[in-house]
Order: sequence, then structure tokens, then C-alpha cells
Amino acid sequence: MAHYVINGGKPLEGSVVIGGAKNAALPIITAAILAGEKCRIENLPEIEDVKILCMILEKMGAKIEHVSDGCIDLDPTCIDPDKGVTFDMVSSLRASYYLLGALLGRYGYAQVAQPGGCSIGQRPMDLHIKGMRALGAEVNMSRGKITAKAENLVGADIYLDVVSVGATINIMLAACRAEGQTIISNAAKEPHVVDVANFLNMMGASIKGAGTNVIRIKGKKNLHGCTYAIIPDQIEAGTYMIAAAATGGEVTIRNIIPTHLEAISAKLMESGIRVTEGDDDNEFFITVSGRNAKPRAVNVRTFPYPGFPTDLQQPMMAFLTTADGNSVVVENIFEDRFNHVVELERMGANITVIGKTATVSGTERIYGAPIYASDLRAGAALIIAALMAEGESEVHNIKFIDRGYERLAEKLTALGADIKRVED
Ligand code: UD1
Repeated sequence: MAHYVINGGKPLEGSVVIGGAKNAALPIITAAILAGEKCRIENLPEIEDVKILCMILEKMGAKIEHVSDGCIDLDPTCIDPDKGVTFDMVSSLRASYYLLGALLGRYGYAQVAQPGGCSIGQRPMDLHIKGMRALGAEVNMSRGKITAKAENLVGADIYLDVVSVGATINIMLAACRAEGQTIISNAAKEPHVVDVANFLNMMGASIKGAGTNVIRIKGKKNLHGCTYAIIPDQIEAGTYMIAAAATGGEVTIRNIIPTHLEAISAKLMESGIRVTEGDDDNEFFITVSGRNAKPRAVNVRTFPYPGFPTDLQQPMMAFLTTADGNSVVVENIFEDRFNHVVELERMGANITVIGKTATVSGTERIYGAPIYASDLRAGAALIIAALMAEGESEVHNIKFIDRGYERLAEKLTALGADIKRVED
């Protein structure tokens, strides 16, 4: 297994181009199953999760052609829904749950192994299943497999007890091919939910209200192929924004949608970091400067969009380890998303966790150490901590980081970081 060796203490300087959004790419690739024709998908991030999902679809019979960097043609017409996906294939890929909605919508039958993904809490699927049942599917769970079948999917009114990105998208996928209208209330409003809805609409679906908490879907008998470019990754952009601030550097982040980053910009500015937005030739960018700043402690509470994203809670905590004063970080979405804390403490951070609240007492500096990523965003937090720290760090378990950050070492090196990937 590979690890990163990082010599910290160097401010990041320059500009970085953000890739396509992981959490839009995964459902969009899966949504292509619903089309009766080939789809072209552009601006795909070069990450492990995308590679694994493409492999799963190919195993099921899809034909995928790599047209150019970040662009594939996906022909779903030869998919056999009986070629169930085995546990080892989906164990690392949470987003394989989208196969349930897409296969059910297209074939009236889906069998998927219960998905894995990051260990950040219980991550139940009750709302996905509630949604499929409301649409008329019979859903059974046994021996690690979820089987869903329906003669006919019929639109329904579905209220989500908890705002769930995965359940909102999964229900949207199945409902696109259901008879009549489906209304999802208390739906997730994340940018990737809107992106998936836009993709489905390009395929001929009728989805209104994505981006608000009520989504209306009129089912269609057939969906056709289309060409679609995925939105930029809000979380990758936020990670580089925080890294720029944390190292006291100045970085311009390109290929972004500034409104998606408002919660992060607001917190960084509250902490004393300069954030400016602009556009060049109709392309947006954001510049984050921590030069000559002594960041102040800020309180962070994670919430569904447009709140502060849970996926940036861990990177933000790394930044706050050397901020002036006490920061209170409350994780409201996942119950076990503080696994990075013990690693930050190993580097000299001072953090106390009680339940879903972490109190970070800023220290003058943190120090390089061997540290171990426990999940994807914990990994991003440790990379930021290692970039801030005095001395050398070894960041281990980087398979988690590879799942969601494209060409990380290359992008950070271009910004002046001293980072090397070592293949063990
Ligand atoms: C997705 C993202 C993940 C992000 C999270 C929240 C993907 C592949 N992953 O995960 O990066 O951190 O959104 O923005 O897009 N819940 C239930 N029952 C369910 C489903 C969810 O109780 O059936 C709860 C979860 O335990 C959690 C909350 O709802 O407390 C939100 O989870 P959800 O939005 O579904 O997260 P994921 O789709 O798993």
C-alpha cells in the first residue's frame, strides 16, 4: 500500500483546477442505465470510485469507451440485471446503492450487495427502501443482499424523515420510469442532486424542483441518450480553499461554482482569511489568501446544503488546530466522523470530543508524525495537517484518499507542496 511523505510548513501558492464532482459522477454514471441508448459523460473526475463503478457496470454488460481524459461513452443496452454485484466489488463503494434505483427503474428488478464505503457511522438505507416500497417494489434484505422487484412502478408521495442525499437521488432514479407522478418531500438540496436531475432531464425525464426540498417527477416510458458535463467538485474545491488558508498561502481555485462554496468562504472569512471571487473569460474562480493572517477560532456546525458540508468538517478541523482560541465543531450528519481526531492529536493538536461536539484549542503549531487515514475526508484532513505541520509526516492508508481526490500529489506539488507518493 502506498503512503505520502510530506514535509510541511510551506505555504501553498498558485492556482489549481478542480475536477468533476465525485458525488455527482457516481449517480450520473449509474443513471445512464436508465437510458435506452448510449450516453456521453464529460468532466468525470479521475478517481478510484469512478473506476470501480465503471468496472461494476462493465461486469454487468455495459460497454464503456474512454473517449478522452474525463470523458466516457456508456452504452447500457446490454446490461443484464441478473449479473448481481458481489460484496467484494461494492464493499468499498457506498454509491453502489444507486444501482438499486436505476436497475429497478429500468428492469423492474435489482439485486445488489449491501454497500460499504467510509466508516463514519451506521449509514442505514431505510429511507432508500421506504422509497422503493412506496413506488410499489417488493424489497427484501437477506444475507447481505438487497433484492427489489416490481411488475409496475407507480408514482407516490414520499416524505424523507431525514434529509438524505442518497435516498433523494435513488428515489429520483426509480421514479423517472414509474407510472405517474412522484413527489419527494424533505428532499436533499445538494448541488449534486440538482446535477443528477439535470442529467436525467437531458435524457428526457421530467423532474422539477431539484435544489428545493420538494422534487416532483413525472415518470416516462423511455429515456434516451444524451451528452452531459458534470459540475465541479464542491468538496475538492473546499479542500484546496482550506489547505491554502491552513498553510498561510494564496491559491486561486479554478473551475468552480462560487455559490456552492459560500458556507466554506463564510467560515474562512470569519476566521480572518481573505476570500475573493472573480471571473475570467466567463469562468469563475475564487482566491483564498492566508498570507500574513493569524486565523481566529470559529465554530462550525455541519448541516445539509446550503449548510456547512459534513465532508469538509474534518479538513476544517485540521485548519482550526492552530487557530487562535477555542473552536467548537459540531457534527450533525454522521455519528462517528471524528476518527481523524486521534491522528491530529498525535501531531500535537489539542482536541476534546464529547458526543457529536469537538472542542479544538488552538496551539502555536503542530508537528509532523506518522498518521493514518480512517476514511476519505479524514485523509484530506490529515493531508492538510501534514502540509501545515513543522517537519515530516507520513500519511498512511491513502487508498481512502485515492477514492475521491484526483492527482492529489501532482496538484499539491504544482502549488509548491513538498509531497511524495511512496509505493510500499
Ligand atoms: C452522501 C455522500 C457523502 C456525504 C453525505 C452527506 C455520496 C456517495 N456520498 O452520503 O459524501 O457525506 O451524502 O452530504 O454521495 N440516513 C438514514 N437513512 C437512510 C439514509 C440516510 O437515516 O436511508 C441518514 C444517515 O445516517 C445520515 C443522514 O441521513 O445521518 C445523511 O446521509 P445521506 O445524505 O444519505 O448520506 P449518503 O448518501 O450516504
